[in-house]
Amino acid sequence: MLSVETITAGYGAITVLRDVSLAIGANEGVAVIGPNGAGKTTLVRALCGLNPVRSGRIVKDGREIQAVAAHRRAAAGIAVVLENRRLFGELTVRTNLDLAAREGDKRGADQRRFTLDGILALFPFMADRLDAHVELLSGGEQQMVAIGRALLLQPDLLILDEPSTGLAPKIVKSLVGIIARIRGEGVSVLLIEQNVQLATEAADRAYVMKLGRVVSEIGPEHWRGAAKDESLTRAYLGA
Ligand SMILES: Nc1ncnc2c1ncn2[C@@H]1O[C@H](COP(=O)(O)OP(=O)(O)OP(=O)(O)O)[C@@H](O)[C@H]1O
Ligand SMILES: [Mg+2]
Repeated sequence: MLSVETITAGYGAITVLRDVSLAIGANEGVAVIGPNGAGKTTLVRALCGLNPVRSGRIVKDGREIQAVAAHRRAAAGIAVVLENRRLFGELTVRTNLDLAAREGDKRGADQRRFTLDGILALFPFMADRLDAHVELLSGGEQQMVAIGRALLLQPDLLILDEPSTGLAPKIVKSLVGIIARIRGEGVSVLLIEQNVQLATEAADRAYVMKLGRVVSEIGPEHWRGAAKDESLTRAYLGA
């Protein structure tokens, strides 16, 4: 469904991503791990069109999208929850969700997987907070609103950039079940995570990035036990 082919991207004169290639299949959960500064967020920004790709291709469902503007990538089925969440803090939870739902309605009927009720079932706390301003919610609650909003765009690929950052351990654990339910609706998930425990539980396999490159690929067999393998996590995350 998505194939990234030797892309190069960066900021101004700085090149960050160098010949990055990876692929995600339909309904697959794929993790990207790597130390701080490895280029994970730059990859996310390239995938959602916030950073231009200088060379290489991004192919979604057979169509080249690297030149498609960021605001049109949702129409291609890609939704992103960025590191800083990018919610409209001064608006209510309901308005944030409605704005996304309106955008998601433009997707074909066959792509409509999520309704507001579905989102409230996924995140029960939200029902009582629909009229709250997002900036008054806790970090964990805001993360859930950001995921809900992304899902109402009706993506078939959801990209999460370090969703566990700043969350209490209990909420991090709940992310495993939430990601499983999202995948259960037929959505592929690209999960950027430094929490290898969460990443191994939520994704089937992984790519490891370092210094702007994909340095290794961990298949399902090895990935399952990767969190318990300290020498592996040390090597992967440079810790
Ligand atoms: N806006 C920017 N302008 C210039 N350089 C940037 C910018 N954002 C990131 N970089 C550089 O790009 C490199 C990769 O950063 P990136 O944020 O993609 O890493 P990351 O893997 O997401 O790290 P982290 O785990 O800390 O989130 C870093 O060397 C960083 O300094
Ligand atoms: Mg990052």
